[in-house]
Amino acid sequence: MARRSSPQLMINIKRMGHVAITVPNVGETVDFYEQIVGLEVSERGGGAVFLRCNAEHHCLAIYPGEERKLHHLGLEVTDGDALEAARNALAQRGFHPHERTYAEPGHGEALCYLDVDGNRIELYEGMRSLDQPLQPREIRPLRFGHITLQSIELKRAAAFYTDALGFRVSDTAEDAVIWLRCNQDHHGIALLNAGHAKVNHYAYDLAGWNDVKRMCDHLWRNDVPIIYGPSRHGPGHNIFIYVPDPAGNVIELTTELDQIWDEERYVPLDWPNEPRTVDVWRGLPAPPNLLAGDGRDFDDWTAGSPIIGAGWHVLQAGDFTALDPAATLTTPTRERPEFKIDIPRFTIAFDNPLDHVKAIVTADRRFATGNGLSVAVDMAVDVHGTEGNPFAADPDDPRLGCAAIALIDDSTGMVINFEISNRRVMALRELFVVTAPGGVGSVLPMADPALTDLEIEPGSWHRYEIRYDPGEDSVLTPGPDRAEWYVDGELVHQIEWVATVDPPAAPVIKPIRFSVNMAIFTLLDDLPDGRGGFLPGLDPEYRQTIFGQGVTGRWRNLQVSQAGEQQHLRT
Ligand SMILES: [Fe+2]
Ligand SMILES: [Fe+2]
Repeated sequence: MARRSSPQLMINIKRMGHVAITVPNVGETVDFYEQIVGLEVSERGGGAVFLRCNAEHHCLAIYPGEERKLHHLGLEVTDGDALEAARNALAQRGFHPHERTYAEPGHGEALCYLDVDGNRIELYEGMRSLDQPLQPREIRPLRFGHITLQSIELKRAAAFYTDALGFRVSDTAEDAVIWLRCNQDHHGIALLNAGHAKVNHYAYDLAGWNDVKRMCDHLWRNDVPIIYGPSRHGPGHNIFIYVPDPAGNVIELTTELDQIWDEERYVPLDWPNEPRTVDVWRGLPAPPNLLAGDGRDFDDWTAGSPIIGAGWHVLQAGDFTALDPAATLTTPTRERPEFKIDIPRFTIAFDNPLDHVKAIVTADRRFATGNGLSVAVDMAVDVHGTEGNPFAADPDDPRLGCAAIALIDDSTGMVINFEISNRRVMALRELFVVTAPGGVGSVLPMADPALTDLEIEPGSWHRYEIRYDPGEDSVLTPGPDRAEWYVDGELVHQIEWVATVDPPAAPVIKPIRFSVNMAIFTLLDDLPDGRGGFLPGLDPEYRQTIFGQGVTGRWRNLQVSQAGEQQHLRT
């Protein structure tokens, strides 16, 4: 006779109750949730602050700590019997309560568990209602809505919530996202496949589209940037905006979330993992730092580009520092969100072949080329102080000095860039001496610089965008790479080339990752009087010469977009 397994005990999570976060700046963060989001402090204790948006004691708890992270996620069960039933059901599945190291006011009995990513989950009964009315205000959320967690291993993380806590799958987006519900709300928890555990964002529900509009006005009046949206999600069909809090959390303010009333007949959809799924109205990809769960203010460049979400550093190559002693760097501030490199005048004082580089500031991060990579930035360049130019050259000659935004492939030495001088823009792809498969210093034989000259007003701001498409490749059938250059949204130049190496039987080399750089340099290898050359042939007469020509480059609103993370290097 077949052995019958004992029936699995059921767990019913009544609703998503509250989120508790740890932040280093409790005071500033509480101010933000009161003044901007519209929550109200209901109680303080032990350094923690509890905030509410309706009669219930709290929908957000803010705990002090050294770093920003999830303190716990509060899931509400109906009553004490339900909590006991949950304890038994979880024990049957091998999950036992984790020690609860904190005391929290406002609700009844609670049990803590760790999910498979190590997130602390608090099951509790009976959030208390407060008697005193909320202060009147123009807009406030209705309730805590959902949380989105970056998970180490998506399916394993989801299995904890479905098998152990009784959540149901509402929708999926290929292998990237799973949306889960515990009641009729389309999702209370969403899980992202990220390879690491972190809160991506948490959401508060607004009453409707009108409140989204009012909230947008309110955010604008208070100088809080909306980092994504307003738009509508596909899964859940909710309207959303995302904003950063002062601790770096991303919060979503949302409305019109789908309600699933027919549990028996609901069939989850598997959505394509593409921008249109998440941003139905516009199909714009989410900013990379939003995908990373990093809510820094987009105007705050103090720790590097807010879009890139990493710092910048001056390029070092051996003993050489790519920053002219006379150069100044100005990092952006909230008041002046520009990155500026100012070279008062050019000097040639070193034998180093990189000396034509007056400043290169490079992002700490490398960007996977995947299925394509795009870099866009607003840029203005002022070439100034032309007196004493020893070449008697046209002061607008871009070869004397320019500022650039560049994608550089460290492995092949390929540079795809815009070089911008006083009145000219050059869109080009070049190759430099690099460490190639042929050995240190070998040069890849695909030096086919492409150059496009455009005219602009000196010092004028324009938006420059470089798009790189790696195409398909294999050793047997090398396919073309493609680069496109846009100025103010208009295609100004495009080229295709086939990446290869010499001898042809060697592997096809394509960039896997690009660095993104802002630079100012001279092009001494091509001086107007024909005597130039920054490689060993540099005319000794030019050494120690001081040019009277300087360049100021200004960059702002940098955006990096990746079409996919897929590696395309084939051997
Ligand atoms: Fe809690
Ligand atoms: Fe969300």
